[in-house]
Amino acid sequence: MRRLLILPGDGIGPEVVDQVLRIIDWLRRRRNIEFDVVNGLVGGAAFEATGSPLPDETLADALDCDAVLFGAVGGPQWENLDFSSRPERGLLGLRKELGLFANLRPARVYDALADASTLRGDLVAGLDIVIVRELTGGIYFGEPRGVETLPEGDRRGINTEVYSSDEIRRIARVAFELARGRRGLVHSIDKANVLESSELWRQEVQALRDTDYPELELKHMYVDNAAMQLVREPKQFDVIVTTNMFGDILSDLAAMLTGSLGMLPSASLGEATGMGGRRGLYEPVHGSAPDIAGCGIANPIAQISSFAMLLRYSFQLDEDADLIDSAIQTVLAGGLRTADIMRAGKAKVSTTVMGDSILRGLDNLAA
Ligand code: IPM
Ligand code: MG
Repeated sequence: MRRLLILPGDGIGPEVVDQVLRIIDWLRRRRNIEFDVVNGLVGGAAFEATGSPLPDETLADALDCDAVLFGAVGGPQWENLDFSSRPERGLLGLRKELGLFANLRPARVYDALADASTLRGDLVAGLDIVIVRELTGGIYFGEPRGVETLPEGDRRGINTEVYSSDEIRRIARVAFELARGRRGLVHSIDKANVLESSELWRQEVQALRDTDYPELELKHMYVDNAAMQLVREPKQFDVIVTTNMFGDILSDLAAMLTGSLGMLPSASLGEATGMGGRRGLYEPVHGSAPDIAGCGIANPIAQISSFAMLLRYSFQLDEDADLIDSAIQTVLAGGLRTADIMRAGKAKVSTTVMGDSILRGLDNLAA
């Protein structure tokens, strides 16, 4: 049985996750696909109930499951908590404890939404790139870290960018494997003109390409140039592989190219599991959006396509993932929009109505 942990979290998380629950039910009725679903607490909701943003029970359930569907965490009421109690720690803790070293962040422009970007339509029409971000290493986790007080009373804050060749090779391999099924082009992003860790990064990525993936094209780019190139000519990219910190920054940039943050899914993957898939955590790129939480207007598409990625990467249910992706495209082509992607001449719908329509789209496709 496929074991699935659902962690709705805070803000709009529970509202958008509800729409996925309806799709899980649809898969059981119409496609005979069953999940063993476990529900858990994470983030601010978990802090309120247990005093920890990542309760032991949640972590144990996560370790026990094949995949985690994650909503969003955070909100203004928890912003002044100590670092270790903040909702975000729930997410960072899961990434680290589950060994989810590979973060896949696709930035795709849906045809129906090409005019939603802040860039000219011709620059982004048909855009389809994936950022592969290293997620359990680098400066996010490197030691030493902390804030220390020097003898004269001055204070000093320290974080460390550190990568081993094994860590670099395993993330590069994910990017190369992905590129094989796409345009066959990988850009590796670093700061090798300044940082030794980046120099090693560049050497290791190149060596792996030369030995194992000679048929793929690999280009190296400094991160500052990459930021500029992403805005100048985004379609020159196919797969981008980079460090934890650079990936954090560039993936927000890439997300905005599509003009619809409410649409973008992500997958955080670990090593392969016995089922042939990878253990993974799947979450929308958008956050908990506390300003609209409870209003019933959030866009559920990023959460639903995160679930499609879950079917694809953790359970090899590609056909079902394709069905969901097609249903989303059909609904958008039909002119339905949640508030975040609303344009003149389109029909504004609520979270639930968007969910209804995607289910109807699935019914039609599966008929
Ligand atoms: C992201 C977020 C997280 C990160 C925060 C919430 C810790 O910005 O997933 O990109 O920096 O990784
Ligand atoms: Mg980020």
